[in-house]
Amino acid sequence: MAHQVNGVVAAAKGEPVKLVPILVPDPGPGEALIRVKACGVCHTDLHYREGAINDDFPFLLGHEASGIVESVGGGVTNVAPGDFVIIAWRAPCGTCRSCLRGTPWYCFSSRNAAQPMTLADGTPLSPALGIGAFAELTLVDAGQAVKISPEASPEAAGLVGCGIMAGIGAAMHTGNVGRGDSVAVFGCGGVGNAAIAGARLAGAHTIIGVDLDDRKLAWAKEFGATHTINASSTDPVEEIRRLTGGNGVNVAIEAVGSPVTYEQAFYARDHAGTVVLVGVPSPDMKIELPLLEVFGRGGSLKSSWYGDCLPSRDFPMLIDLYLQGRLDLDRFVSETIGIGDVEEAFHKMERGEVLRSVVVF
Ligand SMILES: NC(=O)c1ccc[n+]([C@@H]2O[C@H](COP(=O)([O-])OP(=O)(O)OC[C@H]3O[C@@H](n4cnc5c(N)ncnc54)[C@H](O)[C@@H]3O)[C@@H](O)[C@H]2O)c1
Ligand SMILES: [Zn+2]
Ligand SMILES: [Zn+2]
Repeated sequence: MAHQVNGVVAAAKGEPVKLVPILVPDPGPGEALIRVKACGVCHTDLHYREGAINDDFPFLLGHEASGIVESVGGGVTNVAPGDFVIIAWRAPCGTCRSCLRGTPWYCFSSRNAAQPMTLADGTPLSPALGIGAFAELTLVDAGQAVKISPEASPEAAGLVGCGIMAGIGAAMHTGNVGRGDSVAVFGCGGVGNAAIAGARLAGAHTIIGVDLDDRKLAWAKEFGATHTINASSTDPVEEIRRLTGGNGVNVAIEAVGSPVTYEQAFYARDHAGTVVLVGVPSPDMKIELPLLEVFGRGGSLKSSWYGDCLPSRDFPMLIDLYLQGRLDLDRFVSETIGIGDVEEAFHKMERGEVLRSVVVF
């Protein structure tokens, strides 16, 4: 039996999203039906509705969610009805060439629900990042449902499902930030500020937040930035060098998704340092760098997909840190909104008014 609920759908490139009736099937083998409790509005949802990810419209948006397992299909053992879970957009298959070589965070065959969710007329929906959680119910592969402590607030927990994990993981896993390191983070939105929080947790000494918006920079300080730079009035590369004894940072994290900030990150790095690209570029973007500089500066240029995380290992760990008072996830929740307010939340994000608007059910 399919359940009819309301979902936030992007029907065509650039069009405002709409709340429409959708059909969510009961879980089949290996699937879990989740009653969504909260879902954050991430910039990647906006990338989808702008057609910057792919053209598989209509999209069912929302992918930063927590919820309660409503029911499970045959063979599911990792979760049971009533469990409080964060939904992950990575559920390693265990059998692809990447999983087999011991790097499941690069899994090339991450699992999603086999059955499609559809519009009321039967048109299949493309769920954002294989989730689609701006809806009262969503269907996922049970491996995407990661059980966590029910003590965590649903709004805060949901954010771990994308932006927080992407940012913290970019610092801790991809960038391998360590004790005493210097770090610069370009773009202090939800993802960038999570990278700042991750750099602090990892023991970084100097943490420099760069943004164009003073509100974002004030938040960056609250998450652990020791210095901030407004790149609309100050050259961030020169200022980062000045703040690091003329050398540049050990790890430069790009959390905007733009060639301008990527190039700044590249040059703001110390010799043999690391650039981590976590911002998602659009298909038309290009960078041009002198190859001699790429060679001569050494180090590594890395991309970070979902913070190179393993959700089943990392989500419960981050929720424990939150419950111990060592990671302030609540501070990322700028406002809670209704499911009909996602389009307006995109505009607030574009105007820089929020770190995260979170839909609550
Ligand atoms: N790699 C991943 O796994 C992953 C996961 C989630 C999100 N993302 C991506 O991360 C990026 C950030 O997401 P978000 O939700 O934090 O978005 P956001 O819109 O909240 O934050 C982006 C920030 O960048 C700032 N910015 C824009 N241009 C800038 C410039 N030239 N210099 C300095 N700062 C600038 C903005 O003021 C804003 O504060 C997006 O591209 C998103 O798609 C990637
Ligand atoms: Zn795999
Ligand atoms: Zn996201």
